[in-house]
Amino acid sequence: MRKKTAAVSFIGLGYVGLCTATVFAAKGLKTVGIDIDKDKVNQIAAGKPPFHEPGLARLLKTTLRQRRLHVTNDTTEVEKTDITFLTVGTPSKPDGSIDLTYITNAARDLGSALRNKDKYHLVVVKSTVIPGTTTSTVKPVLERESGKTIGPDLGMCTNPEFLKEGTAIQDTFSPDKIVIGSNDPKSANRLKLLYQRFHRGKLPPTILTTPETAEMIKYASNAFLATKVSYINTIANICQTLPGVNVETVAHAIGLDPRIGPLFLKAGPGYGGSCFHKDLQALINYSNNNGYEPALFRATEEVNEEQASRVVALSEKLLGQLDHRRIAVLGLSFKKDTDDIREAASVRVIDRLRKKGAHVVAYDPAAVPNAKKLLANSIEFAEDPYSALKGADCCIVMTEWDEFRKLKAKDYQTQMRLPNIVDARRLYDPEDFKDMNFLAVGLGS
Ligand SMILES: NC(=O)c1ccc[n+]([C@@H]2O[C@H](COP(=O)([O-])OP(=O)(O)OC[C@H]3O[C@@H](n4cnc5c(N)ncnc54)[C@H](O)[C@@H]3O)[C@@H](O)[C@H]2O)c1
Repeated sequence: MRKKTAAVSFIGLGYVGLCTATVFAAKGLKTVGIDIDKDKVNQIAAGKPPFHEPGLARLLKTTLRQRRLHVTNDTTEVEKTDITFLTVGTPSKPDGSIDLTYITNAARDLGSALRNKDKYHLVVVKSTVIPGTTTSTVKPVLERESGKTIGPDLGMCTNPEFLKEGTAIQDTFSPDKIVIGSNDPKSANRLKLLYQRFHRGKLPPTILTTPETAEMIKYASNAFLATKVSYINTIANICQTLPGVNVETVAHAIGLDPRIGPLFLKAGPGYGGSCFHKDLQALINYSNNNGYEPALFRATEEVNEEQASRVVALSEKLLGQLDHRRIAVLGLSFKKDTDDIREAASVRVIDRLRKKGAHVVAYDPAAVPNAKKLLANSIEFAEDPYSALKGADCCIVMTEWDEFRKLKAKDYQTQMRLPNIVDARRLYDPEDFKDMNFLAVGLGS
């Protein structure tokens, strides 16, 4: 007889929760997605993802139609499932420390929903939380509200998420690793079993460890990636002062050393997105509270913040004063294939351009609705790249969308008032733009 497959639920249907829930449903698991935001739930139930993520819309429609995925704002529905993943946001407080309000509230609602359940239930903390949070914050709330203790009836694990926006669906189908942190062997085994079924027995490398180590792995991973970006941007800024030196060639060559590796060595306007800055700030704050100043990560953040000014300085090099200049910004999302503008470098660059008196007209294939919420009437939004470029004195390419990669020098020249371009993403071969005034991050001139 086939063993019954566990039913799973997700509390928090943001980028992580919705993408993961949809993929679990696509793998044939009965999945319940829960969010407190009623409008979001209604939108998802109608088959419309609340954010742009390649492959999500199609998968969402299929799994809803097949009734494998059910979405609701009623947390008590967790009772019908065997395993609940907590996937709510863990933003920063003004001092950079982690804000655990959402995770605490979600644990409270989950605990009380499990109070009368008589079957075993496993709770999995998937949100990124600072080391110690699962054991010191989530566990007591869950135990108090459910009236149960972690052990025979109630399980608990930490299982950080490593998916990347833009490739979230693919990453969830085939993660490079699974990290399971638990002090309770039954909990860890249940979660491992779930992943074994998900991966049809071919588990990716799986690390079984303590909750605190699992939590630390996530921060260590993001701190390394952010530092790699600030490292290559530092090299790029030095290259820029060296005539004839191109950071692209430098990055290619050093990336051939297997100790360095080729990925994440792309010079640019600095990292963005919802995680790197927030997680580094939380890690720095946590570390300081424990008596250690992580100077390297503070420098990583400083280099990143400064990088936006470096991009603006390139446009000043071309134009002189920016006051009353019309600057086209191509790309608002923090990277291609997402509409997420949280902590996007474009926002930092636009802020600096505006402070210098420039008139900004921006275009993005997906992120304009989100950008309008943040930037309101402070800039002009264009319908396509050509209207953004029309009459511009300078264009800054901020996101590596394929749509921009296809643009040729003549597309810029025919629309712009002055042929000035700043390639902040290193999208183009400088040779193709030699008839324009072309500057790029990390290109010595
Ligand atoms: N976005 C990423 O690329 C990414 C990648 C890996 C890990 N993470 C981590 O995963 C977590 C979630 O990130 P995200 O980007 O998906 O967040 P998000 O802000 O996009 O979504 C969080 C969702 O949780 C919902 N929510 C909040 N409190 C709730 C409650 N009590 N009950 C039900 N729903 C509730 C919100 O309405 C929202 O829809 C964070 O800890 C983040 O650091 C994010």
